[in-house]
Amino acid sequence: MKAFTFQTPTNIRFGAGASSKIGELLKGYKAAHVLLVTDEKVWAAGLTRNAEAAIAEAGIALTVFDGVLADAPSHVIEAAAEICRERGVDTVVAIGGGSALDTAKLVAYLAKTPDKLDDIYGIDRATGDRLPLLLVPTTAGTGSEVTPVSIVKTLNNEKKAVISPLLIPDWAILDPELTLGLPPHLTAQTGIDAIVHAIEAYTGKIKKNPTSDWLALKALARLSANLRKVCADGSDLEARSEMLLGSTLAGMAFAHSPVAAVHALAYPIGEIFQVGHGLSIALVLPYAGEGCDEARGAPTGQQSARARRRSGPGDLCQSTCGSEQAMTELGRQTGISTFNLRHRRDLCRLCNTHSTSPDPVFSAHVAETAANNCSSAQSGGLARILRAIARQREGRAPSTLRFNRIGSNT
Ligand SMILES: NC(=O)c1ccc[n+]([C@@H]2O[C@H](COP(=O)([O-])OP(=O)(O)OC[C@H]3O[C@@H](n4cnc5c(N)ncnc54)[C@H](O)[C@@H]3O)[C@@H](O)[C@H]2O)c1
Ligand SMILES: [Zn+2]
Repeated sequence: MKAFTFQTPTNIRFGAGASSKIGELLKGYKAAHVLLVTDEKVWAAGLTRNAEAAIAEAGIALTVFDGVLADAPSHVIEAAAEICRERGVDTVVAIGGGSALDTAKLVAYLAKTPDKLDDIYGIDRATGDRLPLLLVPTTAGTGSEVTPVSIVKTLNNEKKAVISPLLIPDWAILDPELTLGLPPHLTAQTGIDAIVHAIEAYTGKIKKNPTSDWLALKALARLSANLRKVCADGSDLEARSEMLLGSTLAGMAFAHSPVAAVHALAYPIGEIFQVGHGLSIALVLPYAGEGCDEARGAPTGQQSARARRRSGPGDLCQSTCGSEQAMTELGRQTGISTFNLRHRRDLCRLCNTHSTSPDPVFSAHVAETAANNCSSAQSGGLARILRAIARQREGRAPSTLRFNRIGSNT
């Protein structure tokens, strides 16, 4: 067995209404002034209200920063960190989707160190100190509440990651009540994102280990059993609870065995077409489904075909990403449209592709992500697709890629 390291938040609190008890946790850090990081919609939906009341009740000063934007733009992070410094904030809380959580992780770091954001992109380049950090996800979800990752949109619209154990929060607070109002299309997109985190953690080829495997399978079982339920009935608290815990477990899994080709392709697609992370993943997934047939064999490669069929992961993979029909149906129900890619063949090979060198317009992060993929058997497939997308971006005739905005039927 390969050697591995397991790092995850020391503290996870799960339960309906858990966010309304945040005051006790903050007292543990002797918090005097909290910055609450959120976005306008989450704030307007009242999802921060209970936590705000708890903070007031604990006698702690509060500054609300509701300026979070989709995909955590760098200038927003820097502005919020500046507010912390100006106001003497000593603790950071985030309530929201992955964009709010990723913003808060870097705010807590930049407010405490002299480091500049531009200098810490990459792995283990953030090595200073940070403010205490408590994260409350309202989507299920990115799993950001338990990962050492923060994904930032730079001023050039490029996605870059800061990866450091320092970004793992002090507390992940999982309150499924906060996800009850998530509309069906966001429920589907973010749920599919979580499923792909689990699948890619399980089929990843570089860092997977027995712990990440266990977490990925536990996550996948919960997510695949409940995604359709929560899309059909968002008020089902038990199903929402399963989804939230499932997405956190998937986050813990991919924190240790990073995501791969579906994410690698989704990053530039999100960037080019300006669609959110969950949607870009959801759009790519059906086309990567067939490739997962290849991935299915990877974890149990030494076993006979018969043993593999009995072994479970393949069945799980097929019951989630492998079933294109189910995903198409879910897309129809929830209003997620689909990509039409002529080079579907290439996309189907995604899970069996070890990217070589994508077009230079794409960041190193994309290439690194693709390199985690399960097999290096057929190189170049991902690079070809990325080049097709690049041609589209340059305004040439979209002969290899057609993209339909949400709601289009063609
Ligand atoms: N750090 C990590 O490990 C990690 C992992 C995956 C994705 N990400 C990042 O997370 C971001 C995407 O996060 P996301 O998919 O959660 O979306 P998001 O945070 O961008 O939110 C999407 C929309 O949902 C709304 N919303 C959130 N919760 C809601 C609720 N309960 N009810 C109603 N509306 C709600 C938000 O206001 C927003 O309009 C991307 O930037 C992505 O790169 C990070
Ligand atoms: Zn993701």
